[in-house]
Amino acid sequence: MILVTGGCGYIGSHTVVELCNAGYEEIVIVDDLRNASIDVLDRIKQIVPSVSLHFYQVDINDEEGLEKVFSTHNIETVVHFAGLKAVGESVREPLLYYQNNISGTLVLLKVMARHGCKEIIFSSSATVYGPKNPIPYLEEMDTSATNPYGWTKVMQEQILRDIAVADPEMRVALLRYFNPIGAHESGLIGENPNGIPNNLLPYICKVAVGKLEKLSVFGNDYDTPDGTGVRDYIHVVDLAIGHVKALQYIRKNAGVLTVNLGTGIGYSVLDIVKAYEKASGRTIPYVIVDRRPGDIACNYANAEKAKELLGWTAERNLDDMCRDSWRFTEKNL
Ligand code: NAD
Ligand code: WQD
Repeated sequence: MILVTGGCGYIGSHTVVELCNAGYEEIVIVDDLRNASIDVLDRIKQIVPSVSLHFYQVDINDEEGLEKVFSTHNIETVVHFAGLKAVGESVREPLLYYQNNISGTLVLLKVMARHGCKEIIFSSSATVYGPKNPIPYLEEMDTSATNPYGWTKVMQEQILRDIAVADPEMRVALLRYFNPIGAHESGLIGENPNGIPNNLLPYICKVAVGKLEKLSVFGNDYDTPDGTGVRDYIHVVDLAIGHVKALQYIRKNAGVLTVNLGTGIGYSVLDIVKAYEKASGRTIPYVIVDRRPGDIACNYANAEKAKELLGWTAERNLDDMCRDSWRFTEKNL
């Protein structure tokens, strides 16, 4: 059976759906709901009625709680999403991030080891490429970070590599996500952060429905075609399917798989604004403000390794991402 930590969250919920679509219909979810709603479970069931979900509201730092889950179910693989992800918050509260992301992962790995569970798919991030690597990013480049959140990803990757050295039976996938956006085409699950969003797409969504007045574009003097920041945006459903492919890969291959999950295409902030206006039929008012500290001009993936090893490429384009995001936004925000 597969355990999905953080399975009620944005990427986790879409991955549960795609696992089920691929025939993995019985899934255990552990989520303490600190950044998700219990309603997501019903919504997943509406999308994939054949799914059999076992839900536990447990913090992954709670060893006893996890122990019960592993004693109740025969977990073969863990898909590990649970963690905190806000860069700015991690700068203000580093201990919270190291505790939740690093200690939580250590507790999870300890319980996995006790139960002989040797397969783990981990949510890493393009942030591990740090500020100095040339683009496009290739998996063999050095890793580093510029903030505590990023360091937790660099460190968790290292912990997982070390475990795989110590135990050659381990099967580890380190999936480096670029910028996931969009929502399931049903409009039932998607991203709806509490408060004022930090990330571009959630912010644009709130402007589109009139909950925020205008977007602040962080700088238009970068060395990019229109001066605004360029990123590799990937549809969350494509990303979720990447997890299914990674699962199939590690079941055939022991050791550590490290792959980028991106499209290989960069879009600017203003490209995104235009595409979202087209998809929603709404105007997105914006102002240009100063650069956001810590941002880089441009990043995108070299996506060849995932294609070669997993037979995976992102199939949904920017219009699909904005259309599906808008459908979710209109129904839920
Ligand atoms: P999310 O916040 O929507 O999902 C994370 C889930 O984990 C939430 O449901 C939350 O309640 C749960 N959680 C957090 N700490 C927990 C704990 N200690 N115990 C149990 N549950 C806990 O975030 P997401 O966007 O779906 O991200 C999932 C993973 O992917 C994270 O590890 C994140 O760092 C990583 N990631 C996200 C992005 C992105 O842009 N969204 C990019 C790269 C990597
Ligand atoms: C995208 C672009 C901003 C908001 C972050 C994390 C990264 C990963 C994905 C988890 C940039 C610009 C944004 C706004 C703007 N997460 N922008 N106005 O910074 O590429 O990546 O999320 O691992 O680690 O750092 O994503 O969506 O914040 O920004 O102009 O209100 O939009 O400057 O060019 P980012 P983002």
